Amino acid sequence: MDATGELKTFAVGLDNKSSQFVIPASFFYISSFNQPLDLAPWASDVRSLTNTAMATATLNYEPMVFAPKLGNEAPLTAIQEEVLALKKERNALILAHNYQIDAIQRVADYVGDSLGLAYKAEAADTDCIVFCGVHFMAETAKIVNPTKPVLLPDLNAGCSLSDSCPAAKLAAYKEANPNVYVVAYINCSAGVKALSDVICTSGNAMKIVGKVPADRDILFVPDQNLGQWVAKQTGRAMQLWPGSCYAHVLFTQQAIERLKLKFPDALVVAHPECTETVRDNADEVCSTEKMIGFCRDCDAQEIIVVTETGMIHRLQREVPNKTFIAGPTDTCACNDCRYMKMNTIEKLRDCLRDMSPQIEMPEDIRLKAYAPIKRMLEWSQ
Ligand code: 13P
Ligand code: SF4
Repeated sequence: MDATGELKTFAVGLDNKSSQFVIPASFFYISSFNQPLDLAPWASDVRSLTNTAMATATLNYEPMVFAPKLGNEAPLTAIQEEVLALKKERNALILAHNYQIDAIQRVADYVGDSLGLAYKAEAADTDCIVFCGVHFMAETAKIVNPTKPVLLPDLNAGCSLSDSCPAAKLAAYKEANPNVYVVAYINCSAGVKALSDVICTSGNAMKIVGKVPADRDILFVPDQNLGQWVAKQTGRAMQLWPGSCYAHVLFTQQAIERLKLKFPDALVVAHPECTETVRDNADEVCSTEKMIGFCRDCDAQEIIVVTETGMIHRLQREVPNKTFIAGPTDTCACNDCRYMKMNTIEKLRDCLRDMSPQIEMPEDIRLKAYAPIKRMLEWSQ
């Protein structure tokens, strides 16, 4: 797509290493669900052939297996105790995303997914909020609760998915296509939120899309994988922005198939940011919050968790009697998000001590970004 919003067809290449369909980075396209991502006619045949052949290969690394975690948790460390003392002194609320390291999750007041964290941030009545997650999440907290200082332990904790939709490009697209109704996944900047009609998370995307007036053309930004999943589930045609999460697209079906040869009874739960093949073959596709309920309630004793590895800390705490196996890529037994892992317990301690770094944003952007978030919070009640 160029700045005038003209649609471009794009080529889909087959990456020899992973057999994933890769979109050349130079292309910037919009695709509609009714005219699905322009897969070459041979593509699905190659994909299934490749998966079958690869599944028979053995793993070239040891799987990362988390056995049932029974017994008491280890005592808190000195630095965790320091964080708790500072939290009390500052009258702070510590919010942590499910992908944070265990040391942070254990001192947080609330650990959850983007939706739960947004609600908690809005309701916070403490003197400040410390957001242990990535930048767009802390920005969301500031948007919904502007009078409180919002601290982020590392301001560089960004998000590849958020970066894949710059506000200026969305503004140009909207100018060329003024009638689109923009549904933005919460993984985007305040600038993009300010240009959107409604926000959604992986936990409420289906509900939100279902409420968009039927006569409007939806543009879903920035995650084409989540958008494609929602379009398939709801049957609602949508134009998809070509963004993706660098971490979730690394999971491959053939790596999961190889793992399943070792764990034939394991169920697979995957995040909707994963690619279509991974989603289509998973036993459940859901937000990180819903993974807790699925893993607790399903009959399986072993579950392959196809999302960022930090998720398993919370699963082990809340579903201690089951075995969790980290979702694999073609080259690695697990997959961390490099941005989520920028927050450390030391940085958390330091930001509470120094009341810095804080999220700042121009008030006009904040107000514009608040309207679609408010709509989401109301629509997803
Ligand atoms: P959840 O809202 O499902 O926790 O997802 C957030 C995220 O960044 C996934 O990569
Ligand atoms: Fe962004 Fe992906 Fe990291 Fe989630 S896992 S914060 S979508 S880069």
